[in-house]
Amino acid sequence: MNNSADKKVLIEKINKLRHEKNAIILAHYYQLPELQDIADFVGDSLALARKARETDASILVMCGVNFMAQTAKILCPDKKVLIPDINATCSLADSCRAEDLRKWKEQHPDYMVVSYVNTSAEVKALTDIVVTSSNAIKIINQLPKDKKILFGPDHNLGDYINTLTGRNMQLWNGACHVHSRFSLEELIKLKKEHPQAKVLAHPECKRVLLELSDFIGSTEALLNYVKTSSEYEFIVLTESGILHKMTQACPDKLFVAVPPETSANIVDGKPMTCHCNECEYMRLNNLQKLYKCLENETNEVDVAPELVAQALKPIEKMLSMS
Ligand code: 13P
Repeated sequence: MNNSADKKVLIEKINKLRHEKNAIILAHYYQLPELQDIADFVGDSLALARKARETDASILVMCGVNFMAQTAKILCPDKKVLIPDINATCSLADSCRAEDLRKWKEQHPDYMVVSYVNTSAEVKALTDIVVTSSNAIKIINQLPKDKKILFGPDHNLGDYINTLTGRNMQLWNGACHVHSRFSLEELIKLKKEHPQAKVLAHPECKRVLLELSDFIGSTEALLNYVKTSSEYEFIVLTESGILHKMTQACPDKLFVAVPPETSANIVDGKPMTCHCNECEYMRLNNLQKLYKCLENETNEVDVAPELVAQALKPIEKMLSMS
């Protein structure tokens, strides 16, 4: 897109199409600002799933990554679910293949499986209860204390849940490539530069970073924290897309993004000019691709009906327990 006039035309076309086609646009907080701004609804994983379930739109465009679109499809299989870029995957979801989870389950026959929502439909179908970062503690606390649990795929989140609930869940060794590469050195440096700042972290970050944080929560919880806080400065340990809504909600406050470790900060042999930690898969979606997929109804995310039936149960369980 060359200029703001082109962008304006594109936005008008999208608005016309969504009206004609009875389509709803949902976006995650990690999406490009232009997508968050045009969306009917922006939320964390749990809020997006809830919104998908309650909408009466015929077409749902998920500006997020594949597992979010799949979850929406599982919750409303009669609707057409589209994603602006079909290659928008999630490194964490990809770290747990269904066949490997099946083997892990076979090795632990007396365990139940709790899976993070960042998983494929196939993995959800092998799961007893799905959780998101905003309801994981609440749900695990409702399970009997002696329940043996396999938790995956995010090791950092599992470790955090174990610490807070006193459980001893067995953890899958997966991680989000964005959250696991935040630099401890940079965080310590930023804390010295901004001694008044509150440190906010997503629970997918490593334990050493969580221990230096003042508040830990899902993207939505972090946003709510800054909205209601009387503090002025915040150091933010999650994908930097969230800064868009934080800045919109609190234009007078200061938000500082923590950069990734130096090795992750080098792209094509050169240091990145931006000091943010961005997910390249989330950022595959953009306004032009949103327009194209809505116009042509392409990039449809489909889930086989047998799989929908199996994957729906642990998601419904989550919704009823959160
Ligand atoms: P939230 O549920 O907190 O939005 O997290 C989603 C996610 O993919 C984090 O990496």
